[in-house]
Amino acid sequence: MALFRGREVAILGSGSYVPSKILSNDDLSHMVDTSDEWIVERTGIRERHIAAPGELTTDLAEKASIMALKDAGIRPEELDMIIVATNTPDTLFPGVGPKLQGRLNAQNAGAFDLQSGCTSCIYALTVAATGIASGIWNNVLVIGAEVLSRIIDWEDRNTCVLFGDGAGAVVLGGSNGSNGRLISAELRSDGTKSDFITLPGGLIENPASEETLREGLHYVQMKGNEVFKFVNRVLPDFLKHMCQEAGLTPKIIDWWIFHQANLRIIEGITKRLRVPSEKAVINLDRYGNTSAASTLIALHEARYDGRIKKEEKVILTSFGAGMTFGAVLYQA
Ligand code: UT7
Repeated sequence: MALFRGREVAILGSGSYVPSKILSNDDLSHMVDTSDEWIVERTGIRERHIAAPGELTTDLAEKASIMALKDAGIRPEELDMIIVATNTPDTLFPGVGPKLQGRLNAQNAGAFDLQSGCTSCIYALTVAATGIASGIWNNVLVIGAEVLSRIIDWEDRNTCVLFGDGAGAVVLGGSNGSNGRLISAELRSDGTKSDFITLPGGLIENPASEETLREGLHYVQMKGNEVFKFVNRVLPDFLKHMCQEAGLTPKIIDWWIFHQANLRIIEGITKRLRVPSEKAVINLDRYGNTSAASTLIALHEARYDGRIKKEEKVILTSFGAGMTFGAVLYQA
């Protein structure tokens, strides 16, 4: 059973930030052999935001965090922990978390990065909620932030059309009984599929060398088709089972916040779950796949524009390199 026990945990506030520069499908068609028609038909993506030269993951995370803290009415010194879900930290160390903690002057908070592919944000939410439910933390800032544009091979049409930069943030804290609660979380992994999405170069397995540079091992490599099939096979039953464990059915869920990777994947899953596709929050047309930031940006937008109403039930779910997958169920 993956139901939260102990102190009830609520989402106190949210925020997001995307860089100002927009790269459209037409722009990409001048860079690689692709077209707006192909990208829209196969993915649903129309444009994505790209960080400015010198703009770092910490910069994006900071802007989303300030918005989330303001929305929550929480001062930085009231934070006990900062968890940054990211696959594109500015540097391997120091992590984005400690840098952000310093910038926010969150003097009573610990801070760390959490990296588990695009599912990192779901893992981070679960860790944060577990710490609050158990009583060791009161307020936790969770951020998903990525500058994927710096690890993409802009000559590889298989990957460069998919990804974008951005950040989403939430503040979690104890529920006051009327501001909702996290109901359950499920975190999973299938490491037998660890070769599906990789960034093989520049670290321990393939230290940076002229050869790794020549072979482009410092860029994202992906077996897109395998990922597509894996997700369509695994996610529907996983999500059904998660609903059952909470005594619910997929039909009862008011909003589905899927990882914004591909519209066809989202449509395939909603069809298999037999839920109307209008219940899926979609923003991938504007942002592309922002990896660990994707569900948190979508969550913020759906809260901010009033789509998610009090007491509605929401599932956030993601999948990514590992292959990891996971979901969090909450009541608004
Ligand atoms: O966060 C997790 C990240 N990963 C994912 O979510 C990836 C999941 N997978 C996908 O979204 C899809 O598999 C892709 C969008 C990556 C690819 O779509 P697909 O429908 O599976 O296409 P495909 O890989 O089977 O390729 C079909 C054709 C190929 O040409 P041929 O061999 O049929 O002549 C590709 O070379 O489309 C070609 N192609 C392109 N054509 C124009 C691949 N990329 C492009 C492109 N523009 N950008």
